[in-house]
Amino acid sequence: MKPAVLDLGVALPRYALDLCDLASARGVDPAKYASGLGGVAMGVPAPGEDTVTMAASAAASVLDRHPGAAADVGLCIVGTESATDRARPIAIEVHALAGLPAECSVFDVKHACYGATAGLHMAFLWVAANPSRKALVVAADIARYGIGSAAEPTQGAGAVALLLGMADEDEALFAPWPMTGTHAAPVHDFWQPPYLREAVVRGRYSIECYLDSLAGAYAAWLRNGGLVEGSLDRLLFHSPFPGMARKAHARLWELSRGADASGAADDFARRVAPGLAVNAGVGNCYAAAVYLSLAGLVEAEGASLQGLCLGGFSYGSGSCGEFFGGRFGRRAAAGRVGLAEALAAREPIDVAGYERARAECEALEHDGSFREDRTGAGGRFTFLGIRDHVRVYR
Ligand code: CAA
Repeated sequence: MKPAVLDLGVALPRYALDLCDLASARGVDPAKYASGLGGVAMGVPAPGEDTVTMAASAAASVLDRHPGAAADVGLCIVGTESATDRARPIAIEVHALAGLPAECSVFDVKHACYGATAGLHMAFLWVAANPSRKALVVAADIARYGIGSAAEPTQGAGAVALLLGMADEDEALFAPWPMTGTHAAPVHDFWQPPYLREAVVRGRYSIECYLDSLAGAYAAWLRNGGLVEGSLDRLLFHSPFPGMARKAHARLWELSRGADASGAADDFARRVAPGLAVNAGVGNCYAAAVYLSLAGLVEAEGASLQGLCLGGFSYGSGSCGEFFGGRFGRRAAAGRVGLAEALAAREPIDVAGYERARAECEALEHDGSFREDRTGAGGRFTFLGIRDHVRVYR
């Protein structure tokens, strides 16, 4: 028995905005978003949805498929950079809404899009030390940039919950290998000052930082005994937009095979594209993006994943990157993690509706916004607003 991912749950925001519509509204050639960035649509939260409601929905979704598991959870970590409070973690709201027991360690982990991966490290170690209990790690974020900015089409939102416990390697959904490769660099590529509503991003520079981090993390992975990337059956890359994963695959290819790119496109289609398809329709969801690809891969390939080796790259601006890997087990063959339902439940929204929803979400972020009869989130949990400085959820 080893610490492993037993199952996944997913939550997406209520609305989806077609990037062709956004391109038309912004006077941009739609091909820039479609083939340049690789995006199709982006998730847009409705008023009454926030990081907490998505994180709790993802957690409830995975726990629903494992009756009795909630009572065994002794560790609940949320990896996020969309904090709703500087002191109070999102994890405590997830703990309450998902009905977790009082004997539970509960906290958030922040390092841009890397937080959930750091949380998973801790959780795997914790599960090894507490083999009769389970851990819940939730990656949840809302990616927001300025209206009309170059980064606007790379927005999105979503949450993925990973239920961890001890399992035989062959039985698990995914059993990680203990070695990983990490790379840290003190760069200012993307960050979120507390006095600004939107992220500050140095777009082209952030792409270079990401690729440098990938090269550093992969070199560390090899030094630590990881398999050469060509031996990995599937690859996942943090996807702020799918074109970034394409660049990442090209860099990895070049690192291990040199400048000859013949065969790279077919390799991308076989090893990367199956997991990436969902990111094209959801947009960036920061800490959750690489785990959304994992969910997408499991639902896309199901039974054929059993026994295959996965390599993944998680990147948090600032920066910390990590190359990790492991093997899919029997539970991956079920191929059902609720992603298809979450995608099907979304409603299309036009550009005016997206701008209105965004303004309404912002208007809820002040004391006194509470309304008992608030509706509109459409999901399982609703953020009713703030009363006496307390965020209230139903
Ligand atoms: N038809 C087809 N393709 C077109 C086109 C057209 N008409 N016009 C432009 N393109 C292509 C460009 O050639 C380019 O492709 P390549 O990079 O392969 O050359 C692509 O579309 C984007 O065009 P630009 O570089 O001109 O786009 P931009 O400068 O306006 O913005 C961006 C792109 C920098 C990624 C911007 O969206 C951004 O700042 N995004 C947020 C930052 C980000 O996601 N960084 C990624 C690394 S950091 C990270 O991963 C952490 C995180 O989550 C934030």
